[in-house]
Amino acid sequence: MTVRSASRKIFDFGLLRRVFTYAAPYKKQFFFSITLAIVLAVVSPVRPWLIQVTVDKYIRSGLANLVIVITLIQIGLLLVETALRFSFSFITAWLGQTVVKDLRITVYKKVIHLNLSQFDKTPIGTLTTRTINDIEAVNDIFSEGLISIIADLLSIIAILGVMFFTDWKLTLVCMAVLPVLLIVTWWFKESVNVSFQKVRNAVAQLNAFAQEHITGMAVVQAFAAEDREYDKFKRINKEHRNANIRAIFAYSVFFPFVEIIMAVSMGLMIWWSARDALQGEATLGIMIAFILYLNLLFRPLRMIADKFNVLQMGMVASERIFKVLDNPDYIVREGEHAPAQIKGKVEFKSVWFAYHKDNYVLKDISFAIRPGETLAIVGHTGSGKTSIISLINRLYQIQKGAILIDDVNIDQYKLDILRSKIGVVLQDVFLFSGSIQDNVTLRNDSISRNEVIKAAKLIGMHDFIMQLPGGYDYNVMERGSTLSLGQRQLLSFIRALLYDPSVLILDEATSSVDTQSEQLIQHAIDTLIEGRTSIVIAHRLSTIRKADKIIVLDKGEVKETGTHAELLEINGFYARLHEMQFTRTGAR
Ligand SMILES: Nc1ncnc2c1ncn2[C@@H]1O[C@H](COP(=O)(O)OP(=O)(O)OP(=O)(O)O)[C@@H](O)[C@H]1O
Ligand SMILES: [Mg+2]
Repeated sequence: MTVRSASRKIFDFGLLRRVFTYAAPYKKQFFFSITLAIVLAVVSPVRPWLIQVTVDKYIRSGLANLVIVITLIQIGLLLVETALRFSFSFITAWLGQTVVKDLRITVYKKVIHLNLSQFDKTPIGTLTTRTINDIEAVNDIFSEGLISIIADLLSIIAILGVMFFTDWKLTLVCMAVLPVLLIVTWWFKESVNVSFQKVRNAVAQLNAFAQEHITGMAVVQAFAAEDREYDKFKRINKEHRNANIRAIFAYSVFFPFVEIIMAVSMGLMIWWSARDALQGEATLGIMIAFILYLNLLFRPLRMIADKFNVLQMGMVASERIFKVLDNPDYIVREGEHAPAQIKGKVEFKSVWFAYHKDNYVLKDISFAIRPGETLAIVGHTGSGKTSIISLINRLYQIQKGAILIDDVNIDQYKLDILRSKIGVVLQDVFLFSGSIQDNVTLRNDSISRNEVIKAAKLIGMHDFIMQLPGGYDYNVMERGSTLSLGQRQLLSFIRALLYDPSVLILDEATSSVDTQSEQLIQHAIDTLIEGRTSIVIAHRLSTIRKADKIIVLDKGEVKETGTHAELLEINGFYARLHEMQFTRTGAR
Protein backbone atom coordinates (compact mmCIF):
# COMPACT_ATOMS: atom_id res chain seq x y z
CA MET A 1 0.00 0.00 0.00
CA THR A 2 2.59 2.52 1.08
CA VAL A 3 4.74 1.55 -1.86
CA ARG A 4 1.94 2.33 -4.28
CA SER A 5 1.00 5.63 -2.74
CA ALA A 6 4.64 6.66 -2.63
CA SER A 7 5.12 5.81 -6.27
CA ARG A 8 2.15 7.98 -7.17
CA LYS A 9 4.03 11.02 -6.09
CA ILE A 10 5.63 12.00 -9.38
CA PHE A 11 8.31 14.23 -8.10
CA ASP A 12 9.36 15.10 -4.60
CA PHE A 13 11.93 17.84 -4.69
CA GLY A 14 12.39 17.92 -0.92
CA LEU A 15 13.30 14.25 -0.97
CA LEU A 16 15.66 14.70 -3.89
CA ARG A 17 17.35 17.61 -2.22
CA ARG A 18 17.92 15.48 0.84
CA VAL A 19 19.40 12.68 -1.24
CA PHE A 20 21.75 15.18 -2.79
CA THR A 21 22.96 16.42 0.58
CA TYR A 22 24.80 13.10 0.69
CA ALA A 23 26.71 14.22 -2.39
CA ALA A 24 27.72 17.44 -0.64
CA PRO A 25 31.19 16.17 0.35
CA TYR A 26 31.77 15.43 -3.33
CA LYS A 27 30.71 18.83 -4.67
CA LYS A 28 33.67 18.97 -7.06
CA GLN A 29 32.80 15.71 -8.74
CA PHE A 30 29.13 16.61 -8.82
CA PHE A 31 29.68 19.94 -10.56
CA PHE A 32 32.24 18.37 -12.83
CA SER A 33 29.64 15.86 -13.99
CA ILE A 34 27.10 18.64 -14.61
CA THR A 35 29.71 20.61 -16.55
CA LEU A 36 30.47 17.52 -18.60
CA ALA A 37 26.75 17.15 -19.32
CA ILE A 38 26.58 20.73 -20.58
CA VAL A 39 29.71 20.39 -22.71
CA LEU A 40 28.44 17.14 -24.19
CA ALA A 41 25.11 18.74 -25.03
CA VAL A 42 26.89 21.57 -26.81
CA VAL A 43 29.38 19.31 -28.59
CA SER A 44 27.00 16.67 -29.91
CA PRO A 45 25.23 18.77 -32.61
CA VAL A 46 28.56 20.09 -33.90
CA ARG A 47 29.48 17.09 -36.04
CA PRO A 48 26.23 16.95 -38.04
CA TRP A 49 26.44 20.70 -38.49
CA LEU A 50 30.00 20.39 -39.80
CA ILE A 51 28.83 17.75 -42.29
CA GLN A 52 26.12 20.06 -43.47
CA VAL A 53 28.61 22.87 -43.97
CA THR A 54 31.06 20.52 -45.70
CA VAL A 55 28.48 19.21 -48.13
CA ASP A 56 26.83 22.53 -48.90
CA LYS A 57 29.78 24.86 -48.92
CA TYR A 58 33.01 23.03 -49.63
CA ILE A 59 32.13 19.96 -51.66
CA ARG A 60 29.92 21.98 -53.95
CA SER A 61 32.52 24.66 -54.32
CA GLY A 62 35.21 22.04 -54.83
CA LEU A 63 37.48 23.03 -51.93
CA ALA A 64 38.94 19.56 -51.61
CA ASN A 65 41.82 20.19 -49.22
CA LEU A 66 39.46 21.89 -46.75
CA VAL A 67 37.36 18.73 -46.81
CA ILE A 68 40.35 16.78 -45.56
CA VAL A 69 40.89 19.29 -42.75
CA ILE A 70 37.25 19.06 -41.78
CA THR A 71 37.38 15.28 -41.79
CA LEU A 72 40.34 15.45 -39.43
CA ILE A 73 38.40 17.85 -37.22
CA GLN A 74 35.52 15.39 -37.26
CA ILE A 75 37.78 12.59 -36.12
CA GLY A 76 39.20 14.85 -33.41
CA LEU A 77 35.70 15.78 -32.24
CA LEU A 78 34.68 12.15 -32.16
CA LEU A 79 37.64 11.32 -29.95
CA VAL A 80 36.92 14.25 -27.64
CA GLU A 81 33.27 13.29 -27.42
CA THR A 82 34.14 9.70 -26.60
CA ALA A 83 36.51 10.83 -23.88
CA LEU A 84 33.87 13.16 -22.45
CA ARG A 85 31.23 10.45 -22.52
CA PHE A 86 33.53 8.02 -20.77
CA SER A 87 34.38 10.60 -18.08
CA PHE A 88 30.72 11.39 -17.63
CA SER A 89 29.62 7.76 -17.09
CA PHE A 90 32.57 7.06 -14.90
CA ILE A 91 32.13 10.07 -12.66
CA THR A 92 28.38 9.64 -12.20
CA ALA A 93 28.83 5.96 -11.37
CA TRP A 94 31.65 6.86 -8.99
CA LEU A 95 29.42 9.45 -7.33
CA GLY A 96 26.60 6.93 -6.96
CA GLN A 97 28.82 4.27 -5.42
CA THR A 98 30.47 6.72 -3.05
CA VAL A 99 27.19 8.15 -1.84
CA VAL A 100 25.85 4.62 -1.40
CA LYS A 101 28.87 3.67 0.67
CA ASP A 102 28.34 6.67 2.97
CA LEU A 103 24.60 6.21 3.18
CA ARG A 104 24.85 2.51 3.97
CA ILE A 105 27.21 3.22 6.86
CA THR A 106 24.85 5.92 8.14
CA VAL A 107 21.87 3.60 7.97
CA TYR A 108 23.71 0.71 9.59
CA LYS A 109 24.94 2.95 12.39
CA LYS A 110 21.40 4.11 12.94
CA VAL A 111 20.07 0.56 12.94
CA ILE A 112 22.55 -0.68 15.55
CA HIS A 113 21.63 2.21 17.82
CA LEU A 114 17.89 1.73 17.56
CA ASN A 115 16.06 0.81 20.70
CA LEU A 116 15.56 -2.90 21.02
CA SER A 117 11.79 -2.47 20.93
CA GLN A 118 12.11 -1.40 17.30
CA PHE A 119 13.42 -4.85 16.45
CA ASP A 120 10.41 -6.42 18.13
CA LYS A 121 8.24 -4.41 15.73
CA THR A 122 10.21 -4.58 12.47
CA PRO A 123 10.85 -7.85 10.65
CA ILE A 124 14.57 -8.54 10.24
CA GLY A 125 14.14 -8.95 6.49
CA THR A 126 12.84 -5.40 6.22
CA LEU A 127 15.86 -3.89 7.90
CA THR A 128 18.14 -6.02 5.75
CA THR A 129 16.36 -4.72 2.66
CA ARG A 130 16.80 -1.14 3.87
CA THR A 131 20.53 -1.49 4.38
CA ILE A 132 21.23 -3.46 1.19
CA ASN A 133 18.67 -3.27 -1.64
CA ASP A 134 17.03 0.09 -1.10
CA ILE A 135 20.37 1.81 -0.92
CA GLU A 136 21.33 0.21 -4.22
CA ALA A 137 18.35 2.01 -5.77
CA VAL A 138 19.71 5.30 -4.45
CA ASN A 139 22.91 4.58 -6.35
CA ASP A 140 20.85 4.57 -9.54
CA ILE A 141 19.58 8.08 -8.80
CA PHE A 142 23.12 9.23 -9.37
CA SER A 143 24.45 6.87 -11.99
CA GLU A 144 21.37 6.50 -14.19
CA GLY A 145 18.81 8.89 -12.82
CA LEU A 146 18.91 12.57 -12.29
CA ILE A 147 22.25 13.69 -13.69
CA SER A 148 21.77 11.52 -16.73
CA ILE A 149 18.26 12.93 -17.26
CA ILE A 150 19.65 16.45 -17.02
CA ALA A 151 22.32 15.52 -19.55
CA ASP A 152 19.72 14.05 -21.91
CA LEU A 153 17.41 17.04 -21.61
CA LEU A 154 20.30 19.39 -22.28
CA SER A 155 21.34 17.53 -25.40
CA ILE A 156 17.73 17.35 -26.62
CA ILE A 157 17.43 21.11 -26.16
CA ALA A 158 20.76 21.76 -27.87
CA ILE A 159 19.97 19.56 -30.86
CA LEU A 160 16.46 20.99 -31.25
CA GLY A 161 17.93 24.47 -31.00
CA VAL A 162 20.43 23.83 -33.76
CA MET A 163 17.71 22.19 -35.87
CA PHE A 164 15.41 25.17 -35.45
CA PHE A 165 18.24 27.52 -36.24
CA THR A 166 19.09 25.61 -39.41
CA ASP A 167 15.56 25.20 -40.74
CA TRP A 168 12.64 25.79 -38.39
CA LYS A 169 9.96 24.65 -40.82
CA LEU A 170 11.69 21.35 -41.44
CA THR A 171 12.12 20.91 -37.69
CA LEU A 172 8.41 21.43 -37.11
CA VAL A 173 7.63 18.85 -39.77
CA CYS A 174 9.93 16.33 -38.11
CA MET A 175 8.41 17.02 -34.73
CA ALA A 176 4.87 16.35 -35.94
CA VAL A 177 5.30 12.89 -34.42
CA LEU A 178 6.00 14.33 -30.99
CA PRO A 179 2.44 13.97 -29.55
CA VAL A 180 2.37 10.27 -30.43
CA LEU A 181 5.82 9.82 -28.97
CA LEU A 182 4.78 11.51 -25.73
CA ILE A 183 1.68 9.35 -25.36
CA VAL A 184 3.58 6.13 -26.03
CA THR A 185 6.35 7.16 -23.67
CA TRP A 186 3.85 7.94 -20.94
CA TRP A 187 2.16 4.57 -21.35
CA PHE A 188 5.50 2.81 -21.25
CA LYS A 189 6.70 4.67 -18.18
CA GLU A 190 3.52 3.92 -16.26
CA SER A 191 3.30 0.25 -17.09
CA VAL A 192 6.95 -0.41 -16.39
CA ASN A 193 6.70 1.49 -13.15
CA VAL A 194 3.72 -0.55 -11.97
CA SER A 195 5.37 -3.81 -12.98
CA PHE A 196 8.61 -2.95 -11.26
CA GLN A 197 6.82 -2.11 -8.04
CA LYS A 198 5.26 -5.55 -8.25
CA VAL A 199 8.62 -7.14 -8.97
CA ARG A 200 10.14 -5.43 -5.96
CA ASN A 201 7.32 -6.55 -3.70
CA ALA A 202 7.60 -10.09 -5.00
CA VAL A 203 11.36 -10.10 -4.44
CA ALA A 204 10.89 -8.86 -0.88
CA GLN A 205 8.31 -11.58 -0.30
CA LEU A 206 10.54 -14.26 -1.79
CA ASN A 207 13.40 -13.14 0.41
CA ALA A 208 11.34 -13.02 3.57
CA PHE A 209 9.73 -16.36 2.81
CA ALA A 210 12.97 -18.15 2.05
CA GLN A 211 14.76 -16.60 5.01
CA GLU A 212 12.06 -17.48 7.49
CA HIS A 213 11.45 -20.99 6.22
CA ILE A 214 15.08 -21.95 5.93
CA THR A 215 15.57 -20.72 9.51
CA GLY A 216 12.56 -22.71 10.62
CA MET A 217 13.27 -25.72 8.43
CA ALA A 218 13.26 -28.11 11.39
CA VAL A 219 9.66 -27.17 12.17
CA VAL A 220 8.61 -27.37 8.53
CA GLN A 221 10.04 -30.87 8.18
CA ALA A 222 8.98 -32.11 11.59
CA PHE A 223 5.36 -31.30 10.77
CA ALA A 224 5.66 -32.65 7.22
CA ALA A 225 4.59 -29.27 5.90
CA GLU A 226 7.07 -29.29 3.00
CA ASP A 227 4.46 -29.62 0.25
CA ARG A 228 2.28 -26.82 1.58
CA GLU A 229 5.25 -24.49 1.96
CA TYR A 230 6.52 -25.53 -1.45
CA ASP A 231 3.20 -24.58 -3.05
CA LYS A 232 3.23 -21.22 -1.33
CA PHE A 233 6.73 -20.56 -2.58
CA LYS A 234 5.69 -21.55 -6.10
CA ARG A 235 2.83 -19.04 -5.95
CA ILE A 236 5.03 -16.10 -4.93
CA ASN A 237 7.61 -17.14 -7.49
CA LYS A 238 4.96 -17.11 -10.20
CA GLU A 239 3.85 -13.60 -9.21
CA HIS A 240 7.45 -12.56 -9.54
CA ARG A 241 7.70 -13.99 -13.03
CA ASN A 242 4.39 -12.45 -14.15
CA ALA A 243 5.37 -9.01 -12.95
CA ASN A 244 8.68 -9.28 -14.75
CA ILE A 245 7.02 -10.47 -17.94
CA ARG A 246 4.66 -7.50 -17.90
CA ALA A 247 7.67 -5.21 -17.70
CA ILE A 248 9.42 -7.11 -20.48
CA PHE A 249 6.27 -6.83 -22.59
CA ALA A 250 6.26 -3.06 -22.18
CA TYR A 251 9.91 -2.89 -23.21
CA SER A 252 9.38 -5.12 -26.24
CA VAL A 253 6.47 -2.97 -27.41
CA PHE A 254 8.02 0.39 -26.65
CA PHE A 255 11.42 0.19 -28.32
CA PRO A 256 10.23 -1.03 -31.75
CA PHE A 257 7.42 1.53 -31.56
CA VAL A 258 9.89 4.34 -31.03
CA GLU A 259 11.85 3.03 -34.03
CA ILE A 260 8.69 3.31 -36.11
CA ILE A 261 8.00 6.83 -34.87
CA MET A 262 11.54 7.79 -35.70
CA ALA A 263 11.20 6.29 -39.17
CA VAL A 264 7.99 8.26 -39.69
CA SER A 265 9.74 11.42 -38.56
CA MET A 266 12.59 10.69 -40.96
CA GLY A 267 10.11 10.03 -43.76
CA LEU A 268 8.34 13.31 -43.11
CA MET A 269 11.66 15.10 -43.18
CA ILE A 270 12.69 13.58 -46.51
CA TRP A 271 9.28 14.20 -47.98
CA TRP A 272 9.42 17.88 -47.01
CA SER A 273 13.01 18.29 -48.20
CA ALA A 274 12.19 16.62 -51.50
CA ARG A 275 9.29 19.00 -51.92
CA ASP A 276 11.60 21.92 -51.21
CA ALA A 277 14.23 20.50 -53.52
CA LEU A 278 11.73 20.46 -56.35
CA GLN A 279 11.28 24.15 -55.72
CA GLY A 280 15.05 24.50 -55.55
CA GLU A 281 15.16 25.52 -51.87
CA ALA A 282 16.49 22.53 -49.95
CA THR A 283 20.13 21.61 -49.73
CA LEU A 284 21.62 18.15 -49.57
CA GLY A 285 23.73 19.15 -46.57
CA ILE A 286 20.68 19.99 -44.47
CA MET A 287 19.08 16.68 -45.32
CA ILE A 288 22.11 14.69 -44.29
CA ALA A 289 22.52 16.77 -41.15
CA PHE A 290 18.87 16.27 -40.20
CA ILE A 291 19.14 12.52 -40.55
CA LEU A 292 22.00 12.66 -38.07
CA TYR A 293 20.14 15.11 -35.80
CA LEU A 294 17.11 12.87 -35.65
CA ASN A 295 19.31 9.94 -34.73
CA LEU A 296 20.93 11.98 -31.99
CA LEU A 297 17.56 13.20 -30.79
CA PHE A 298 15.79 9.88 -30.56
CA ARG A 299 18.55 8.19 -28.63
CA PRO A 300 17.94 10.16 -25.41
CA LEU A 301 14.19 10.38 -26.05
CA ARG A 302 14.01 6.61 -26.06
CA MET A 303 15.87 6.28 -22.77
CA ILE A 304 14.36 9.14 -20.83
CA ALA A 305 11.22 7.26 -19.73
CA ASP A 306 13.35 4.44 -18.44
CA LYS A 307 15.57 6.81 -16.57
CA PHE A 308 12.60 8.56 -15.08
CA ASN A 309 11.46 5.24 -13.67
CA VAL A 310 14.87 4.59 -12.22
CA LEU A 311 14.75 8.00 -10.62
CA GLN A 312 11.31 7.36 -9.22
CA MET A 313 12.25 3.99 -7.80
CA GLY A 314 15.29 5.59 -6.28
CA MET A 315 13.10 8.17 -4.63
CA VAL A 316 10.72 5.57 -3.25
CA ALA A 317 13.69 3.72 -1.83
CA SER A 318 15.24 6.85 -0.37
CA GLU A 319 11.93 7.75 1.25
CA ARG A 320 11.99 4.40 3.04
CA ILE A 321 15.62 4.84 4.02
CA PHE A 322 14.94 8.27 5.44
CA LYS A 323 12.11 6.79 7.45
CA VAL A 324 14.65 4.54 9.16
CA LEU A 325 17.07 7.43 9.61
CA ASP A 326 14.34 9.62 11.10
CA ASN A 327 13.20 6.98 13.56
CA PRO A 328 13.31 8.85 16.86
CA ASP A 329 13.36 5.67 18.90
CA TYR A 330 17.10 5.30 19.36
CA ILE A 331 19.14 4.83 22.48
CA VAL A 332 19.79 8.08 24.27
CA ARG A 333 23.38 8.15 25.42
CA GLU A 334 23.48 11.32 27.37
CA GLY A 335 24.72 9.84 30.66
CA GLU A 336 28.17 10.97 31.75
CA HIS A 337 28.75 9.02 34.96
CA ALA A 338 31.72 6.75 34.26
CA PRO A 339 33.14 5.20 37.42
CA ALA A 340 36.22 3.01 37.11
CA GLN A 341 34.63 0.37 39.28
CA ILE A 342 31.10 -0.55 40.24
CA LYS A 343 30.60 -1.95 43.72
CA GLY A 344 27.45 -3.70 42.72
CA LYS A 345 24.55 -2.40 44.75
CA VAL A 346 21.38 -2.73 42.67
CA GLU A 347 18.08 -1.15 43.60
CA PHE A 348 14.66 -1.00 41.93
CA LYS A 349 12.34 1.74 43.18
CA SER A 350 8.68 1.40 42.17
CA VAL A 351 9.56 0.47 38.61
CA TRP A 352 6.79 0.31 36.02
CA PHE A 353 7.51 -0.98 32.57
CA ALA A 354 5.54 -1.70 29.40
CA TYR A 355 6.72 -2.85 25.97
CA HIS A 356 3.69 -1.16 24.44
CA LYS A 357 1.95 1.94 25.75
CA ASP A 358 0.07 1.22 28.98
CA ASN A 359 0.26 -2.54 28.77
CA TYR A 360 2.42 -2.90 31.87
CA VAL A 361 4.34 -6.16 32.20
CA LEU A 362 6.08 -4.94 35.37
CA LYS A 363 4.13 -3.13 38.02
CA ASP A 364 5.58 -1.25 40.94
CA ILE A 365 8.66 -3.45 41.32
CA SER A 366 10.91 -2.63 44.29
CA PHE A 367 13.85 -4.53 45.70
CA ALA A 368 17.50 -3.97 46.60
CA ILE A 369 20.60 -6.12 46.77
CA ARG A 370 23.92 -5.30 48.37
CA PRO A 371 27.29 -5.74 46.65
CA GLY A 372 28.27 -9.40 46.37
CA GLU A 373 24.82 -10.75 47.13
CA THR A 374 22.86 -13.12 44.96
CA LEU A 375 19.27 -12.42 44.12
CA ALA A 376 17.09 -15.12 42.64
CA ILE A 377 13.98 -14.24 40.67
CA VAL A 378 11.34 -16.93 40.38
CA GLY A 379 7.90 -17.00 38.86
CA HIS A 380 5.71 -18.64 36.24
CA THR A 381 6.42 -18.32 32.56
CA GLY A 382 5.48 -14.88 31.29
CA SER A 383 5.56 -13.33 34.75
CA GLY A 384 8.18 -10.76 33.70
CA LYS A 385 11.49 -12.24 34.83
CA THR A 386 13.37 -11.67 31.59
CA SER A 387 11.83 -8.22 31.33
CA ILE A 388 13.27 -7.20 34.71
CA ILE A 389 16.81 -8.05 33.74
CA SER A 390 16.52 -6.39 30.33
CA LEU A 391 15.99 -3.13 32.15
CA ILE A 392 19.16 -3.17 34.21
CA ASN A 393 21.55 -2.56 31.33
CA ARG A 394 18.97 -0.38 29.59
CA LEU A 395 17.98 -2.63 26.73
CA TYR A 396 14.56 -1.10 27.31
CA GLN A 397 13.59 2.15 28.94
CA ILE A 398 11.30 2.13 31.97
CA GLN A 399 8.20 4.33 32.15
CA LYS A 400 8.01 5.09 35.86
CA GLY A 401 10.22 4.70 38.91
CA ALA A 402 13.99 4.42 39.08
CA ILE A 403 16.73 1.82 38.85
CA LEU A 404 19.88 2.64 40.82
CA ILE A 405 23.30 1.07 40.70
CA ASP A 406 25.58 2.16 43.55
CA ASP A 407 22.87 4.73 44.36
CA VAL A 408 23.19 6.39 40.95
CA ASN A 409 20.32 6.27 38.49
CA ILE A 410 21.26 4.06 35.52
CA ASP A 411 20.19 6.84 33.14
CA GLN A 412 23.12 8.89 34.42
CA TYR A 413 25.72 6.27 33.56
CA LYS A 414 27.62 6.35 30.35
CA LEU A 415 25.92 3.54 28.49
CA ASP A 416 29.10 1.74 27.42
CA ILE A 417 30.44 1.79 30.97
CA LEU A 418 27.15 0.53 32.35
CA ARG A 419 26.99 -2.32 29.87
CA SER A 420 30.61 -3.31 30.25
CA LYS A 421 30.23 -3.60 34.03
CA ILE A 422 27.09 -5.68 33.80
CA GLY A 423 27.52 -9.13 32.35
CA VAL A 424 24.47 -10.82 30.91
CA VAL A 425 23.89 -14.47 30.10
CA LEU A 426 20.62 -14.69 28.24
CA GLN A 427 18.05 -17.44 28.19
CA ASP A 428 18.51 -18.19 24.51
CA VAL A 429 22.16 -17.83 23.68
CA PHE A 430 22.96 -16.30 20.35
CA LEU A 431 26.16 -17.44 18.68
CA PHE A 432 27.59 -15.84 15.56
CA SER A 433 29.19 -17.78 12.73
CA GLY A 434 32.88 -17.82 13.56
CA SER A 435 35.34 -19.64 15.81
CA ILE A 436 34.70 -20.47 19.46
CA GLN A 437 37.41 -17.96 20.34
CA ASP A 438 35.64 -15.18 18.38
CA ASN A 439 32.32 -16.08 19.94
CA VAL A 440 33.48 -15.93 23.53
CA THR A 441 35.61 -12.80 23.07
CA LEU A 442 33.17 -11.14 20.67
CA ARG A 443 36.19 -10.46 18.43
CA ASN A 444 37.93 -8.50 21.13
CA ASP A 445 41.58 -8.99 20.21
CA SER A 446 42.87 -7.82 23.59
CA ILE A 447 41.66 -11.07 25.13
CA SER A 448 44.35 -13.71 24.60
CA ARG A 449 43.93 -17.39 23.89
CA ASN A 450 45.41 -18.18 27.29
CA GLU A 451 42.80 -16.12 29.09
CA VAL A 452 40.09 -17.89 27.13
CA ILE A 453 41.54 -21.28 28.05
CA LYS A 454 41.74 -20.25 31.69
CA ALA A 455 38.11 -19.15 31.72
CA ALA A 456 37.02 -22.29 29.89
CA LYS A 457 38.82 -24.42 32.48
CA LEU A 458 37.11 -22.55 35.31
CA ILE A 459 33.73 -23.11 33.70
CA GLY A 460 34.68 -26.73 33.00
CA MET A 461 34.34 -26.52 29.22
CA HIS A 462 38.00 -26.88 28.23
CA ASP A 463 37.90 -30.62 27.67
CA PHE A 464 34.74 -30.37 25.64
CA ILE A 465 36.14 -27.62 23.44
CA MET A 466 39.42 -29.48 22.90
CA GLN A 467 37.63 -32.52 21.52
CA LEU A 468 35.88 -30.41 18.87
CA PRO A 469 37.63 -30.43 15.50
CA GLY A 470 40.00 -27.46 15.65
CA GLY A 471 39.45 -26.87 19.37
CA TYR A 472 39.10 -23.17 20.06
CA ASP A 473 39.14 -22.51 16.32
CA TYR A 474 36.17 -24.80 15.77
CA ASN A 475 33.84 -23.00 13.42
CA VAL A 476 30.46 -22.46 15.04
CA MET A 477 27.80 -22.66 12.36
CA GLU A 478 25.17 -20.00 12.04
CA ARG A 479 23.36 -19.44 15.33
CA GLY A 480 25.39 -22.25 16.89
CA SER A 481 23.10 -24.86 15.41
CA THR A 482 25.70 -27.62 15.76
CA LEU A 483 25.89 -27.21 19.54
CA SER A 484 23.36 -28.25 22.14
CA LEU A 485 21.40 -25.71 24.17
CA GLY A 486 23.39 -26.51 27.31
CA GLN A 487 26.70 -26.24 25.45
CA ARG A 488 25.69 -22.91 24.02
CA GLN A 489 24.82 -21.60 27.44
CA LEU A 490 28.13 -22.80 28.83
CA LEU A 491 29.93 -20.94 26.04
CA SER A 492 28.08 -17.81 27.02
CA PHE A 493 29.25 -18.39 30.62
CA ILE A 494 32.83 -18.26 29.34
CA ARG A 495 31.94 -15.05 27.51
CA ALA A 496 30.58 -13.50 30.71
CA LEU A 497 33.55 -14.66 32.81
CA LEU A 498 36.05 -13.17 30.35
CA TYR A 499 34.44 -9.78 30.59
CA ASP A 500 34.65 -10.02 34.38
CA PRO A 501 31.58 -7.92 35.14
CA SER A 502 30.81 -6.37 38.53
CA VAL A 503 27.17 -7.35 38.26
CA LEU A 504 26.23 -10.64 36.70
CA ILE A 505 22.81 -11.30 35.28
CA LEU A 506 21.92 -14.84 34.44
CA ASP A 507 18.77 -16.13 32.80
CA GLU A 508 19.09 -19.86 33.43
CA ALA A 509 18.15 -22.09 30.53
CA THR A 510 15.13 -24.19 31.41
CA SER A 511 16.26 -27.26 29.51
CA SER A 512 16.52 -30.27 31.75
CA VAL A 513 19.84 -31.99 31.36
CA ASP A 514 21.35 -35.22 32.61
CA THR A 515 23.02 -35.38 36.01
CA GLN A 516 26.54 -35.06 34.71
CA SER A 517 25.82 -31.93 32.64
CA GLU A 518 23.73 -30.67 35.52
CA GLN A 519 26.78 -30.84 37.77
CA LEU A 520 28.86 -29.11 35.14
CA ILE A 521 26.37 -26.27 34.79
CA GLN A 522 25.91 -25.96 38.53
CA HIS A 523 29.66 -25.76 39.01
CA ALA A 524 29.86 -23.16 36.20
CA ILE A 525 27.16 -21.04 37.76
CA ASP A 526 28.85 -21.18 41.16
CA THR A 527 32.11 -20.06 39.54
CA LEU A 528 30.38 -17.23 37.73
CA ILE A 529 28.49 -15.72 40.65
CA GLU A 530 31.38 -16.14 43.08
CA GLY A 531 32.39 -12.77 44.48
CA ARG A 532 30.04 -10.55 42.50
CA THR A 533 26.55 -9.20 42.71
CA SER A 534 24.38 -11.63 40.83
CA ILE A 535 20.82 -11.61 39.69
CA VAL A 536 19.72 -15.03 38.60
CA ILE A 537 16.49 -16.08 37.04
CA ALA A 538 16.60 -19.45 38.63
CA HIS A 539 15.04 -22.72 37.60
CA ARG A 540 17.33 -24.90 39.70
CA LEU A 541 16.50 -25.45 43.30
CA SER A 542 20.20 -25.56 44.16
CA THR A 543 20.69 -22.04 42.76
CA ILE A 544 17.62 -20.74 44.53
CA ARG A 545 18.65 -22.24 47.86
CA LYS A 546 22.02 -20.50 47.76
CA ALA A 547 20.53 -17.10 46.97
CA ASP A 548 20.69 -14.41 49.65
CA LYS A 549 17.29 -13.20 48.60
CA ILE A 550 14.47 -14.47 46.45
CA ILE A 551 11.77 -12.39 44.85
CA VAL A 552 8.68 -14.13 43.63
CA LEU A 553 7.05 -12.60 40.59
CA ASP A 554 3.52 -13.12 39.43
CA LYS A 555 1.94 -11.29 36.49
CA GLY A 556 4.47 -8.51 36.76
CA GLU A 557 4.15 -7.95 40.50
CA VAL A 558 6.40 -8.91 43.39
CA LYS A 559 4.39 -11.34 45.46
CA GLU A 560 6.90 -12.30 48.12
CA THR A 561 10.48 -11.52 49.10
CA GLY A 562 12.80 -13.44 51.40
CA THR A 563 15.23 -16.36 51.67
CA HIS A 564 14.29 -19.88 50.73
CA ALA A 565 13.63 -20.84 54.32
CA GLU A 566 11.67 -17.68 55.11
CA LEU A 567 9.47 -18.05 52.08
CA LEU A 568 8.70 -21.70 52.79
CA GLU A 569 7.83 -20.59 56.30
CA ILE A 570 5.22 -18.12 55.02
CA ASN A 571 3.71 -21.04 53.12
CA GLY A 572 2.28 -18.82 50.40
CA PHE A 573 2.89 -18.34 46.73
CA TYR A 574 6.52 -19.48 46.79
CA ALA A 575 5.72 -22.57 48.74
CA ARG A 576 3.14 -23.56 46.12
CA LEU A 577 5.53 -22.77 43.26
CA HIS A 578 8.22 -24.78 45.00
CA GLU A 579 5.83 -27.63 45.46
CA MET A 580 4.85 -27.58 41.77
CA GLN A 581 8.28 -27.11 40.26
CA PHE A 582 10.52 -29.18 42.43
CA THR A 583 8.89 -31.54 44.81
CA ARG A 584 6.89 -33.50 42.25
CA THR A 585 9.70 -33.81 39.74
CA GLY A 586 12.15 -34.55 42.52
CA ALA A 587 14.38 -31.83 43.87
CA ARG A 588 17.71 -31.39 42.16
N1 LIG B 1 9.86 -7.88 23.27
C1 LIG B 1 8.63 -7.92 23.77
N2 LIG B 1 7.65 -7.14 23.27
C2 LIG B 1 6.42 -7.18 23.78
N3 LIG B 1 6.05 -7.95 24.80
C3 LIG B 1 6.97 -8.75 25.36
C4 LIG B 1 8.30 -8.78 24.87
N4 LIG B 1 9.00 -9.67 25.59
C5 LIG B 1 8.14 -10.16 26.50
N5 LIG B 1 6.91 -9.62 26.37
C6 LIG B 1 5.75 -9.88 27.22
O1 LIG B 1 6.07 -9.49 28.53
C7 LIG B 1 5.60 -10.44 29.48
C8 LIG B 1 6.74 -10.91 30.36
O2 LIG B 1 7.65 -11.64 29.56
P1 LIG B 1 9.04 -12.16 30.10
O3 LIG B 1 9.84 -12.59 28.94
O4 LIG B 1 9.61 -11.13 31.00
O5 LIG B 1 8.58 -13.42 30.94
P2 LIG B 1 9.47 -14.47 31.75
O6 LIG B 1 9.05 -14.39 33.17
O7 LIG B 1 10.90 -14.27 31.45
O8 LIG B 1 8.97 -15.85 31.14
P3 LIG B 1 9.81 -17.23 30.90
O9 LIG B 1 9.92 -17.92 32.21
O10 LIG B 1 8.95 -17.99 29.96
O11 LIG B 1 11.11 -16.85 30.31
C9 LIG B 1 4.94 -11.54 28.69
O12 LIG B 1 3.55 -11.34 28.76
C10 LIG B 1 5.43 -11.36 27.27
O13 LIG B 1 4.41 -11.68 26.37
MG1 LIG C 1 12.28 -15.38 30.35
